[in-house]
Amino acid sequence: KPLYADYLQSHIRTVPDWPQAGVMFRDITPLLQNPKTFRLLVDTFVHRYMDEKLDMVAGVDARGFILGAVVAYELNLGFVPIRKKGKLPFLTVAEEYELEYGSATVEIHTDAVKAGDRVLLIDDLVATGGTMLAAAKLLGRLGATVVEAAAIVDLPELGGSKLIADNHLPLFTICDFA
Ligand code: PRP
Ligand code: HPA
Repeated sequence: KPLYADYLQSHIRTVPDWPQAGVMFRDITPLLQNPKTFRLLVDTFVHRYMDEKLDMVAGVDARGFILGAVVAYELNLGFVPIRKKGKLPFLTVAEEYELEYGSATVEIHTDAVKAGDRVLLIDDLVATGGTMLAAAKLLGRLGATVVEAAAIVDLPELGGSKLIADNHLPLFTICDFA
């Protein structure tokens, strides 16, 4: 567990019944808003990966962009976005995945990473794991190796971290909410 995990977790706000009744929404905006926790959060990821041989950081639309871009900058790496369908202008590959109700599609530019690249994949939160796995599949289809998938929060009861482990994708998260 990272050194400041509890301190960071204490700045995540729980909003009951959002976006619908029964959901306990884990809101990371206070963590980003506070300059001390924002710095500690970014430094926790940078410290973990600073001695890894990485070629690129990929971040997932939209909240994964916030952390992913700053971590990439601090690691002296480039940043590539994995976006919801229809947002990227150039040639793309797409992965569809299942949501609780319906499905969603994520896309990446075909030239975002090269075959053999070692990529760090970042999002803010793992729930069912569908988004992170689809993002990792996109990188895999371009021939890249996902060195690790990383997020701030895991919601283990939704099964995503288990699904990710079952798919042999290494996962790092700072904290979880049962
Ligand atoms: C949230 C979150 C992750 C994803 C996790 O994104 O930021 O990307 O859901 O859920 P999963 O593990 O069940 O796939 P959301 O689709 O709400 O988009 P946003 O970042 O644009 O708010
Ligand atoms: N918080 C933020 N994003 C989410 C959540 C949550 O609790 N569940 C699914 N996506």
